[in-house]
Amino acid sequence: MTTLAIVHSRAQVGIHALPVTIEVHLTNGLPALSIVGLPETAVKESKDRVRSALMNSHFVFPMQRITINLAPADLPKEGGRFDLAIAIGILAASNQIPDEYLQDYEFVGELALSGEIRSIRGALPVALAARNAQRKIVLPAENAAEAALVKHAQILPIRHLNEIYQHLQGTASIPLFSKAAANFDEDLPQLRYLADLDEVRGQHHAKRALEVAAAGGHNLLMVGPPGTGKTMLASRLPTILPPMSEEEALQSATLASIANSGFNPQNWGIRPFRAPHHTASGVALVGGGSQPRPGEVSLAHHGVLFLDELPEFDRRVLEMLREPLESGHIVISRAAQQAEFPAHFQLIAAMNPCPCGHLGDTLHPCHCSPEMVKRYRAKISGPLLDRIDLHIEVPNLPRTQLREDGQREPSHTVRERVVAARQCQLARFGKPNSQLGNREVESACQLAPQDERLLDMAIQQLGLSARAWYRILKVARTVADLQGSENIQTPHLTEAITYRRLERKL
Ligand SMILES: Nc1ncnc2c1ncn2[C@@H]1O[C@H](COP(=O)(O)OP(=O)(O)OP(=O)(O)O)[C@@H](O)[C@H]1O
Ligand SMILES: [Mg+2]
Ligand SMILES: [Zn+2]
Repeated sequence: MTTLAIVHSRAQVGIHALPVTIEVHLTNGLPALSIVGLPETAVKESKDRVRSALMNSHFVFPMQRITINLAPADLPKEGGRFDLAIAIGILAASNQIPDEYLQDYEFVGELALSGEIRSIRGALPVALAARNAQRKIVLPAENAAEAALVKHAQILPIRHLNEIYQHLQGTASIPLFSKAAANFDEDLPQLRYLADLDEVRGQHHAKRALEVAAAGGHNLLMVGPPGTGKTMLASRLPTILPPMSEEEALQSATLASIANSGFNPQNWGIRPFRAPHHTASGVALVGGGSQPRPGEVSLAHHGVLFLDELPEFDRRVLEMLREPLESGHIVISRAAQQAEFPAHFQLIAAMNPCPCGHLGDTLHPCHCSPEMVKRYRAKISGPLLDRIDLHIEVPNLPRTQLREDGQREPSHTVRERVVAARQCQLARFGKPNSQLGNREVESACQLAPQDERLLDMAIQQLGLSARAWYRILKVARTVADLQGSENIQTPHLTEAITYRRLERKL
């Protein structure tokens, strides 16, 4: 007679769903239930839920000593998601279900007292890991569509403990979840955005910069008076970015899956566009919490992080962006544990030139004192600005000029050029120019001797750093790629330098 059962489940650590084995052991003695390997508070809650769920679903709750061990011991374990696996373990150890096939399954899901299954966070990485372990995954029905984004995952969605009981008994088997059921297209979606670049009138310089930013994945800062189209331009960046690869789509979806918001399968293959409000806290922006969750920088992974009204953000919060901007990931340290999340995002920021917004504006006077302007701009540190490759002005345009701007390019035409330029980059080093390391820059961004001198002079004049030197070369490389040019030529370099001129004024 079985008194020991082993059930497989998964814990969430950073972006990984790591294996957890749940051993349930029944021994004779005074009836008691003890759980080893979960935090104290989680144990108490889990015990109550599992006991009630089993009894309310008309199973026998064994009147024996029940010892449950979750291994390995050093994983962070949130209680809820192991409920289902614990319940299955108790049923198997007490011979209410056969245990010979349990090896082939993994279980995640929280139990309601009624025996119904509640959704969990992070179903996508669980499905991915279960597939790689060649096991079927039993999970809450609510999470099935998200899990089905993993190709060839064998998903058994359930709403109630009874369903999996009948399945394992062999009385009513649960059909594998199919994508058709989720009304979900296997292929990545085609461009389907509501906004289009052709709605933006004038601002050719800004549009060009947006195209360069899109092609090379460069960060962009737009400075200008109110109502000139900065927010409008930024929100149209996703419409000209290259389509996501399947791998990128999976990574972005995984981060959303483990965040508080969860992943909406409707967004599959659409580059994230995150625009946190300027009141956002550090934790909201870079992630954190006692069970560390990804923040906006990671939710924008492979997409766009848009910070509108940049100087309104807390300076300390902005400084936290420096690390992910450089490394493409963020490490969150907590007393109990450390988590690392990818955060390869493209930063688009917008700001006014002064508190009133009209400094340098030909159409409105500015009322700010030099002191006010200085304080306003000091909120953005030099090192942060240094990490932004393109700085542009988005000026107020006379009405006539706006009206006359008749022939405007739609997003899809711009996107074609961006895609072609990005393909050059992927063929060269397998990544966009913005992510090149210094050595790669040195080999791919060689300049003719007179252009070397031109760049040195510009760096000196503008008072830029060594980091800026590399960044200008990367932008020049992107401009050359947009033109299909093998080498960086003088006009490519001068355009790249133009994008740093504003920095001196800031
Ligand atoms: N270049 C433009 N072409 C077409 N419409 C524009 C343009 N600039 C502004 N608009 C109109 O003005 C509105 C405000 O633009 P937007 O919000 O992009 O300005 P902004 O530069 O972000 O201003 P603020 O500094 O106040 O945030 C837009 O919704 C749009 O209707
Ligand atoms: Mg705006
Ligand atoms: Zn002003």
